[in-house]
Amino acid sequence: MHGILIITTFAVTATVAAAVCNNECNWNGRCIKNNCQCFQGFYGNDCSGDCGCQGYGRCASDQTCLCADGWKWNPTQHKCAWDCQCMNGESCIGPGECGCTLKCKYGACRNGQCVCWEGYKGVDCSQYDSSIMMNKDVAVGMNLGGISYYSSEVKFVDVHKLSQQWVTERDGRHDWNTNEQDTLHLRADGYPASLEPGQKLLQLMFRGFGPHEEMGNFTALYDGEGIIDFGLTEEHILYDGKGRMVVRMPKIGSGGFTLTIHKTNPKNPLRNIRVLIPGYENVYDRFPFHPAFLENLKRYSELRFMDFLSTNGHKPEPTTWADRNTPDSYTQEGSRGGAIEYMIQLANTLGANPWFNIPHAATDDYVKNFAQLVKQTLRPDLKVYLEYSNEVWNGIFRQTKYSREQGLKLNLDSQQWKAGQIYYGRRSAEIVDIWNQVFGSDKDKLYPIFAWQTGYKDYYRQAVAALGDKIKKFKALALTGYFNCDQAADKHAKEIVSMSMSQIQDLCKKDVPDMEDYLHYYLNMSKSHGLQLVMYEGGPGVMESGAIAHFGQHTQAVTDKAIAFNKDSHMEQPIIDIMDTWFKLVTQDPSNKSPGGLFNYFSYTSTPSKYGSWGMLEYTGEDPKTVPKFRGVQRFITDHYKSNPLGPKCSFVKAGALAYGCFQQTTGVFKCGQSDNNGRSWSFYPSFNQSQGEFLVLDGYNPKTFSLYVRLTDTMGANSYYVYNIRGMKWSTLQVFRYYEEEAAYDLLPRLPNGVYDNLDAHAHCA
Ligand SMILES: *[C@@H]1O[C@H](CO)[C@@H](O)[C@H](O)[C@H]1NC(C)=O
Ligand SMILES: *[C@@H]1O[C@H](CO)[C@@H](O)[C@H](O)[C@H]1NC(C)=O
Ligand SMILES: *[C@@H]1O[C@H](CO)[C@@H](O)[C@H](O)[C@H]1NC(C)=O
Repeated sequence: MHGILIITTFAVTATVAAAVCNNECNWNGRCIKNNCQCFQGFYGNDCSGDCGCQGYGRCASDQTCLCADGWKWNPTQHKCAWDCQCMNGESCIGPGECGCTLKCKYGACRNGQCVCWEGYKGVDCSQYDSSIMMNKDVAVGMNLGGISYYSSEVKFVDVHKLSQQWVTERDGRHDWNTNEQDTLHLRADGYPASLEPGQKLLQLMFRGFGPHEEMGNFTALYDGEGIIDFGLTEEHILYDGKGRMVVRMPKIGSGGFTLTIHKTNPKNPLRNIRVLIPGYENVYDRFPFHPAFLENLKRYSELRFMDFLSTNGHKPEPTTWADRNTPDSYTQEGSRGGAIEYMIQLANTLGANPWFNIPHAATDDYVKNFAQLVKQTLRPDLKVYLEYSNEVWNGIFRQTKYSREQGLKLNLDSQQWKAGQIYYGRRSAEIVDIWNQVFGSDKDKLYPIFAWQTGYKDYYRQAVAALGDKIKKFKALALTGYFNCDQAADKHAKEIVSMSMSQIQDLCKKDVPDMEDYLHYYLNMSKSHGLQLVMYEGGPGVMESGAIAHFGQHTQAVTDKAIAFNKDSHMEQPIIDIMDTWFKLVTQDPSNKSPGGLFNYFSYTSTPSKYGSWGMLEYTGEDPKTVPKFRGVQRFITDHYKSNPLGPKCSFVKAGALAYGCFQQTTGVFKCGQSDNNGRSWSFYPSFNQSQGEFLVLDGYNPKTFSLYVRLTDTMGANSYYVYNIRGMKWSTLQVFRYYEEEAAYDLLPRLPNGVYDNLDAHAHCA
């Protein structure tokens, strides 16, 4: 698995020079106590000798390179090159990894086979089949969390994308931050073009998450020349190459870890730094999202990127297209929001309609470019929910103040709140016009929504009235769908501290008639304008509201109880009740056909605090079967969308003449086994314990370790992870992170895409 790592002590390759480090050791080593300590693959007093390792091997005695696993020495080029034996003349696409014969149309290549996006099948992933999608017809969406170095929602396997913005430091000074950000010379991608002597840049990452992640060997990759290191955790550099480091972090605490840039060569500055979670070095560029992040999103038909794009307080003002973060940016964190490219890629991968919030101060040109990028790269079956900013009535947000300022400037009204309301409607409509122009004949894919404050019906009515005829530009009104158990942590704050969980649960019953009441009102309102209804955010909101309204002010015992209730099994039923209420009144109303009628849960993952327990999961990779909020939502989906698959009916891997597979043998009973005659006969592995409705999915086979990677997906769509060793003939279980880490290793043969089972499917009755 980790054969690619080569450990040597520095003494083997480092040549210690007597003099000071000339020319920064030619940027091929570290200057330590005035001596050059060469990077692996370099030699000489000043490290000017290059063995051609390029980060994947070490110098041999003849100054060629002993290349790492997956690489071989190329004498003509005097360097290590990818090494793979491919069968059908495909070329290498990575160390030890063959490319695909055909271009993967809606997917990405992995070890010679296309891995398709959800809903696509066939050898090149070109066939669309919505019946294989877990989110088919599901009118439930999910709000994703924001991007930050302390978020427990680990979206990317490259955690550098989630790192903090630069902290500046100086040699010899002990300040955590010397606050020199404004005087840094930064490139367009945010990396430093140069640093002053003694000046350092630092970033935190993985803060608050470390204790949840499996630890191990992280790989850091970078382009350009310079000196970086890691800190704040127990770390050991196993391999110190130029452009590539392998760092063992056996234990990452809640503080996370730091990356520090000590030097950068102004002629070839450090850039494109990647810090990869153990296991993903060979796949991160084609499969950037953390598989544990993806897996619990597969049943949602829509993803709202409000926090992902840092919609609240988005900066700068105005927001131009050049201001945005791109996949090349030094971090995806900050008030510019994550790259639009990643939002599209995530929607494409999961087959979920994206919901985009346009930043409040976006220029027309930004809006136009945003629309063009979506038009060009979003997969054809998806629709786009479009909203201007977020909650532009909510006084805690900058966008609300902004729209009031703009409204006053344009003399839309003399009262600021009214001026803001009119401005919001006007700008929303302009943004819809721009998207419609860009989409042209495809504009039916757009689903513009108008949102105002659900809790104040008449205020909402006025906002719609102020739009006049422009209301026709929208397809839906959007509402919230929060419940707070009769304001348990506010109105009943004194009582709940001593209440049992079931007593608190009783309080939640009052939320159903409250919701029915406002839904009747808004159904009438939307219908009278010929519009649909959708929810932009909803779910449990049991918390002390004062903490948000009054800068963290709270009562510890009440907060503790609210958090405990959010985690308690008594949370499961109230969620189902509220979702059922919405479903019966809104989703099932004939006027709200898809993409209307959506229940949009807020939000996917976050750590509970006095500011609320908003995350359905507390951290990426948490076992969802143990989480009542997850259970409630998933039970709702399972009950209402019974015929949706929870996995493929058959999953096969071929390794030479042998095929391995898991498939439904008799109704409801899945089996795994192997076949050497295209599936005419199977020898089955020891039986697998499963209940009615559960799926077995064979994700891949590692021929080096004889391991089959098999997931059991239960009726709520939650997985358990198994490995079957075909030599030892034994099942064992794996923890989620470990399963995906091993599965990402380049040795693994992926599952054949649906629809290319050759004769296997006929014999296993897959069709
Ligand atoms: C890290 O790499 C070393 C050296 O290859 C290896 O011995 C060790 O098992 C690896 N650690 C983990 C957690 O995989
Ligand atoms: C429904 O809406 C119409 C027009 O907007 C309004 O006149 C009527 O009073 C509403 N009915 C209810 C029950 O709210
Ligand atoms: C199935 O259950 C039996 C008895 O509890 C157990 O010994 C066996 O390991 C289980 N198999 C799997 C694949 O979990």
